[in-house]
Amino acid sequence: MITAVYPGSFDPLTHGHLDIVDRAARIFDRVVIAVLENPSKRPLFSTGERVSMIRESLGERPGVEVSTFNGLTIDFARQVGAKVIVRGLRAVSDFESEFQMALMNRRLEPEVTTVFIPTSLRHLFLSSSLIKELAEFGGDIAEFVPANVVGPLKQRLTREQQHEHP
Ligand code: PNS
Repeated sequence: MITAVYPGSFDPLTHGHLDIVDRAARIFDRVVIAVLENPSKRPLFSTGERVSMIRESLGERPGVEVSTFNGLTIDFARQVGAKVIVRGLRAVSDFESEFQMALMNRRLEPEVTTVFIPTSLRHLFLSSSLIKELAEFGGDIAEFVPANVVGPLKQRLTREQQHEHP
């Protein structure tokens, strides 16, 4: 039984993330999506909101779970008995920092291996930050994020704007 952890900010979840989850779920017995509770990154959505949106988007996906963590990914991986950390790779620009992180994690725990899964071509350019920017300026985000994320994302960004320019 191989457990994989798929860590990230997921602020918010995109179709690109779901694609990686599905690919990972076909390879590993158990995939734990691990949402980082990181207030220093000033996430748009609270950890609870991100977790609920992910759960809703996932629907019935056997072997896939959602959890939150604080601190180091590798400690969370140990906690859930994972031997694998999954990260999605888009362009070459992702590679350097992802490679550094993978090597650091291996240094911290040689028993855990990072597996990079290339994203599908249609999600190559997707990122949560780009989608937030698109939504902020009224662009159509419906094709990039799961249906249940569209409403909250639009609402939240409108509220943020009102906050900034009352
Ligand atoms: O979705 P993101 O923001 O690209 O995810 C980054 C994440 C959460 C995977 C990374 O920042 C992380 O693992 N943070 C926890 C601290 C940690 O373990 N850092 C790497 C070793 S120092």
